[in-house]
Amino acid sequence: MKPPKHWWRPIESACFLVPECVYDDTSLVFKAYFSHQTGPHEMNVYLDNAATTPMTQEVVDAMIPFMRDHFGNPSSTHQFGRRTKTAIEQARRRIAGHLNVHPRTICFTSGGTEADNMALHAGVEQLGCQRILTCATEHSAVLKTAEHLGKRDGVSFGLLALDATGKVDLPELTRTLSDGIPTLVSVMHGNNEVGILQDIEAIGHVCHEHGALFHTDTVQTMGHYPLDLGALPVDFAACSAHKLHGPKGTGFLYVKDGLKIGAQIMGGSQERAMRGGTENLIGIIGFAAAFDHSMAHLDDHAAHIRGLKAEMVEGLRAAVPGVRFNAGSDGEESLYTVLSVNFPEHEKNGMMLFLLDLDGVACSGGSACSSGSTQPSHVLSALGLHEEGRTSIRFSFSRLTTSKCIQHALKTVAKIRSAAVLV
Ligand SMILES: Cc1ncc(COP(=O)(O)O)c(C=O)c1O
Repeated sequence: MKPPKHWWRPIESACFLVPECVYDDTSLVFKAYFSHQTGPHEMNVYLDNAATTPMTQEVVDAMIPFMRDHFGNPSSTHQFGRRTKTAIEQARRRIAGHLNVHPRTICFTSGGTEADNMALHAGVEQLGCQRILTCATEHSAVLKTAEHLGKRDGVSFGLLALDATGKVDLPELTRTLSDGIPTLVSVMHGNNEVGILQDIEAIGHVCHEHGALFHTDTVQTMGHYPLDLGALPVDFAACSAHKLHGPKGTGFLYVKDGLKIGAQIMGGSQERAMRGGTENLIGIIGFAAAFDHSMAHLDDHAAHIRGLKAEMVEGLRAAVPGVRFNAGSDGEESLYTVLSVNFPEHEKNGMMLFLLDLDGVACSGGSACSSGSTQPSHVLSALGLHEEGRTSIRFSFSRLTTSKCIQHALKTVAKIRSAAVLV
């Protein structure tokens, strides 16, 4: 069944505008057109995909029957429950298949934050780790949890040395782990603010050679990069559906086969008794559909997004003399979805995010989790980019981003910097 043309209405208020998503009649592919005429600006452009991505049509289509028809509690033994239980297990199998792991290693959670929390708690509380080592550039879901656990008796918390490019210093990690203290190392795959890609294979090998457990937050890379968890030296991996066009409030923790972890949430036998509570059925169904689609078109999407990022880099270099990119964000070794831009000193810098938003361009000054906060980004500070915190903007892209979006953002940046925008 084809939904009505204006399936999602734009929600408009003085401050927030969301994209109007309509069907493309010719291709019947669900597209988000960030181009409706609203207010004083020409078009809306969403360049904050590291914060979240819009759900796509195949995801919505997969979820609708489970909103409307299949409502049974997956724990019920009657046909209604069996129907939804089967759907969850099929979703788990499909996701596990994309990662080359056994379905029992996938524990569905409410998202990346919960999965990160779960890995660190399990390491300390159930697997005997007496130390957590992580990086100052990690997401706060890891940093805050590690800090919290580090306050317990017998558990220490340390930050790993990073080299000049923000990558984990492997010789230093080797030296640190040589003391033999049972350790959980947590290093994210792709950094959500500046895009640094860590060599999780090399880090995992060092960890395993020294008997340490290795957790990696793959929230920004799963569904965007091929990840063979069956072959990688990884014990835990966190993933979140809404970063790959799936629904919000759904994710999973990969727990390597053979690692026995008990209840993280008690009171139910769901998720092999690791996480009690009735499953987020609709979310899990949408997550699997999003994962399937991402993996089926991985190369095409990556090529499309890489092209847009290059267009943005080129356009910024042409429009803004002296522009720089934080932590090699414009390079090949950075997430292709993220571009962290450092603008040269300008009277409008302090207002940049606001002025971009006013002209319909949605992006971020740091991680979404800290937006609204005036604290400088902990990631830029950790990389020694203290001043840059005030003058940096993160643009992040998805497969729904178009060249038209990039051109509008570039035009807006040029307008702001030429002081044509008066506030
Ligand atoms: C790297 C990283 N880890 C964890 C999270 C948290 O994921 P969720 O929003 O699913 O809790 C995010 C979200 O911004 C992220 O970018």
